[in-house]
Amino acid sequence: MTRRFLFVLGSARSDGNTELLARLAAEQLPPDVEQQWIDLAAHPLPDFEDLRHDSDHARPTEGPAALLLDATLAATDLVIASPLYWYSMSAQTKRYLDYWSGWLRTPGLDFKATMAGRTLWGVTALAHEEQEVADPLVGTLNNSAAYMGMRFGGVLLGNGSKPGDVRKDDAALARAKTFFALDTAAPLARFLHEAS
Ligand SMILES: Cc1cc2nc3c(=O)[nH]c(=O)nc-3n(C[C@H](O)[C@H](O)[C@H](O)COP(=O)(O)O)c2cc1C
Repeated sequence: MTRRFLFVLGSARSDGNTELLARLAAEQLPPDVEQQWIDLAAHPLPDFEDLRHDSDHARPTEGPAALLLDATLAATDLVIASPLYWYSMSAQTKRYLDYWSGWLRTPGLDFKATMAGRTLWGVTALAHEEQEVADPLVGTLNNSAAYMGMRFGGVLLGNGSKPGDVRKDDAALARAKTFFALDTAAPLARFLHEAS
């Protein structure tokens, strides 16, 4: 299957470090790999409503939810590009993931089976020098991938506070060059309690 990458941008500002780092990494993708970029600030999702136990979710046919659902279903590789906000993902990004809970219950989608085996990746910028503070974000993405039966490609981290700062993080720029390695499949994600 030809690889198709969806980049979901979740910063609360445009042209930030997270997007910059994601674009540097994406530059290394071969030209036959399709890329779609969706900025959640330009396509804001309404608050997620949990209807799982009340009624079926209907498949969205218009607006940001339809755009994001169609793009998600079409992607072999899904990149969550969220800045680190309060040690986790941004609210915009989290809301997008909350929508997955609705899509899991949407008749006709078979969302979990469709996403199983595809690859989830993360890109994040953070002001802290110590990358361990991003463990909650990494854990959220890893566990979400494990729940969905997806592969997990890991998280590309870069340091920066104001826009453009990440260009000074030489280690992150070097990691970006090889982050989306496609020659070997990323491992299927495992919850920590399953890891041997
Ligand atoms: C609401 C908010 C919360 C933040 N929380 C953290 C944090 O918990 N840890 C951290 O290292 N940086 C934190 N930062 C700093 C951002 O991660 C940093 O500025 C990053 O470069 C922003 O990414 P962007 O340029 O892609 O928007 C926070 C910034 C904002 C606006």
